[in-house]
Amino acid sequence: MASSLAVINCSQVVTLAGPARPRVGPEMRELSIIEDGAMLVVGERIATVGSRNEIERLIEASGAGCEVIDAGGRVVLPGFVDAHTHPVFAGTRAGEFEERAKGATYQEIAARGGGIQSTMRATREASLDQLVAAGKRYADWFLRTGTTTVEAKSGYGLTVEDELKLLRAIKQLNSETPLMYVPTFLGAHDIPPEYKSHREQYVSLIVDEMLPQVAEEKLAEFCDVFCEAKVFTTEESRKVLAAARSQGLGLRIHADQLSLSGGAELAAELHTLTADHLEHTDAKGIAALRSAGVQPILLPGSVYALGSSRYPAAREMIEGGLAVVLATDFNPGSSPTPSMPMILSLASAHMKMTPAESITASTINAAYSLNRGDQIGSLDAGKIADFVIHDCEEYRELAYFFGIEHPWRVFAGGMMVYERRVTSPQA
Ligand code: NIG
Ligand code: FE
Repeated sequence: MASSLAVINCSQVVTLAGPARPRVGPEMRELSIIEDGAMLVVGERIATVGSRNEIERLIEASGAGCEVIDAGGRVVLPGFVDAHTHPVFAGTRAGEFEERAKGATYQEIAARGGGIQSTMRATREASLDQLVAAGKRYADWFLRTGTTTVEAKSGYGLTVEDELKLLRAIKQLNSETPLMYVPTFLGAHDIPPEYKSHREQYVSLIVDEMLPQVAEEKLAEFCDVFCEAKVFTTEESRKVLAAARSQGLGLRIHADQLSLSGGAELAAELHTLTADHLEHTDAKGIAALRSAGVQPILLPGSVYALGSSRYPAAREMIEGGLAVVLATDFNPGSSPTPSMPMILSLASAHMKMTPAESITASTINAAYSLNRGDQIGSLDAGKIADFVIHDCEEYRELAYFFGIEHPWRVFAGGMMVYERRVTSPQA
């Protein structure tokens, strides 16, 4: 018989229960909280979520076989779903970070062969084992900040073999860590230096060689493109995404991050599942995303870490009825943070999203943006038991106190995968 586990004495069980679709407009503020709630997990799935009395009756009925966790008056939430990350790479870019602190810009550093290309050089040099070892360090960071699922992009190899190496590393990390990885092929992250003078040949390499192999080996669920002036034009992006679709991959796009480059309109035209970044997207672009049903993924960590103040227009998107998602964009250049609570803090302080909206954006809406809304992202009977007991009395503290780690215990598939020692237990 499958083992059972109950969590009782929770000040709030933030369930995110609701309609079986991404939440829009005022729905983003409805978290379906059970005060003094509790939860029963059987095997790797959630069995029942309800009042403390209801769950205590079920514990009694199950005899001695149920492990009971006293949450000590803390808050329980679904694990965060981080729907945009670049978590497999070699080296760091701490040197470039220092250069930016002295005044250089991200684009200047990229133009002189740094940026994505400096990580590309280190990643090409690294073996699969070295990439997996580095990836495990970051997997720990995601888990300890309360994230249980990450979308994971390749994009630092930029040769057939090196892109496949990154996707194989992601596959290995998915099976060897408790974190769930959803793989995305991002061969179109940059034009590698050896193709700079004949870029169309690199686009052909992606379309004719990389994508067919990625699809054949089933190494990715999604394809993404960095659509940006000086990186991939809208025309080139359209080619790559159309080819990916014909290989059966879902579509995502880095759009309008550094300039208004037509990325949002392209996302709408192709009906991609998501359009990510959108710092420069205007009202026309927002309307196009809305009518095409594209989910915006907003990444305030990269705005913050690049020292910019140009945050995406989250309020306009929420008022316009878009199913907004928040993610970290964890990567070694523009956003070196794995922390969703940090992103929640930025979203409230700089994008005027309420803590409730941010939690919806980083759980249930994020799950739908990965085609997993029926499995994760809320605490509903039947879903995978990915949840976190945060050392908070109420959910708003997650966005309010920043620069600390909130999770007390983290569970993935019903198993405890992280525990932090706390010196002053709650009630
Ligand atoms: O999402 N925009 C493109 N890619 C990343 C940056 C990657 C890097 O700097 O290594 C981003 O911000
Ligand atoms: Fe990114």
